[in-house]
Amino acid sequence: MRKPFIQGVLTGVAAIVVGGAMIALLVMKLGAVPVNADRQPPALEARLFGMALHASVARYAGAQPNPLPATDENLSAGAEIYAEMCAKCHGKPNAGPGVYGASFYPPAPLLADHPSEYAEAELFWIVKHGIRNTAMPAWGRQLSDENIWQVAAFLKRRDSSPMNNQSRTGEGAMNRRPDDKK
Ligand code: HEC
Repeated sequence: MRKPFIQGVLTGVAAIVVGGAMIALLVMKLGAVPVNADRQPPALEARLFGMALHASVARYAGAQPNPLPATDENLSAGAEIYAEMCAKCHGKPNAGPGVYGASFYPPAPLLADHPSEYAEAELFWIVKHGIRNTAMPAWGRQLSDENIWQVAAFLKRRDSSPMNNQSRTGEGAMNRRPDDKK
């Protein structure tokens, strides 16, 4: 009595899963999934993706503290890397969202004006490995681990870094040459 019932339930569940997958495949085959990048992701999609992203980063990044001290030198180095490689998408300090960064799907978040909510180890992981199916590249082949920790330190301390303090007066480290002294 009990066994056939369980078998029936399992068969039903399997049929729903297979049927659902076939419908999803058909929708894709018919070209009904929009692929254009020039719109904002719907709120539910952004929420679900954000949740998956945070959970995955938390799982893979670990909790290692930044091995570099947060000296002015390291923060300035991070600011320079940011200005050179990241600001085009993620925005310059006090400049608001740029058209380029806003034109991706999902858009590149503004990172220039607020300290990141991610821990430094998580920032390190994101920058090194990138984010799949978005415009966020994996920088691990272009930046050394040391450089990535510098940029992570910079992003985490957006309110206290030399670049931000000075950008309030219009003289950000982004505009300084590497050899300029404060
Ligand atoms: C070509 C554009 C582009 C460049 C260049 C780029 N990024 Fe990104 N980045 C993105 C996009 C788009 C996202 C959002 C992906 C998403 O929604 O999950 C992102 C996400 C991130 C995030 C996660 C932020 C969050 O709050 O979810 C961090 C941190 C980050 N980028 C850091 C950097 C750093 C540091 C650099 C430079 C070394 C950089 N990015 C260069 C496009 C870019």
